[in-house]
Amino acid sequence: MEHIYPIFDKMLTRADKEALLGQRGIMIWMTGLSGSGKSTLAIALERELQRRGILCRILDGDNIRSGINNNLGFSPADRRENIRRIAEVARLFVDTGIVTIAAFISPSEELRRMAAGIVGEADFFEIYVNTPLSVCEQRDVKGLYAKARRGEISEFTGISAPFEAPAAPAMTVDTSAMPLADSVNEILNSILPRINKQ
Ligand code: PPS
Repeated sequence: MEHIYPIFDKMLTRADKEALLGQRGIMIWMTGLSGSGKSTLAIALERELQRRGILCRILDGDNIRSGINNNLGFSPADRRENIRRIAEVARLFVDTGIVTIAAFISPSEELRRMAAGIVGEADFFEIYVNTPLSVCEQRDVKGLYAKARRGEISEFTGISAPFEAPAAPAMTVDTSAMPLADSVNEILNSILPRINKQ
């Protein structure tokens, strides 16, 4: 039977959402060791973008590993599933025109390429938060490095599980070598033209 209002059958597109928001959705993917400053950078970046009228969504351990992924640990298979689900969720946000900032260790090139494949390579802006392991370990905000060194946590990234540096990140920042505001500014300079806020 023919629909009375055929136009209502058409789902709104990403372009429609982006036009409504006056911005383009992109994925900013932070990768780096625990304690490298990924979440701190994500939070500061989100504030700066919001100040410019840009709608963002942060995905990090606090809202993902405690919720949708609370059945996952840190085995290679669980990390893979963690990143896969995060990328699928991120894609929904990006497709809604939202600037989506992910802050996860995502320890291998294979996992990050999987994420980029799910989100879409063209929308994927990878930032390597390359703070040296020695600094992360010294910070040890959550006391996890000490526990890992004592053998109380297994498969801890950088200590007893591998971290593979990104092959070709869009940007690299070291939070121990540069003030936070400078790193955020550098990121803004690269991504603002892509967001194209009207
Ligand atoms: S991953 O590898 O991308 O799936 O990890 P992620 O989801 O980013 O979670 C990292 C945070 O979990 C805490 N944690 C561990 N990290 C690494 N290895 C092990 N075994 C581990 N166990 C717990 C750690 O605090 C990480 O927090 P961040 O925010 O990265 O410092």
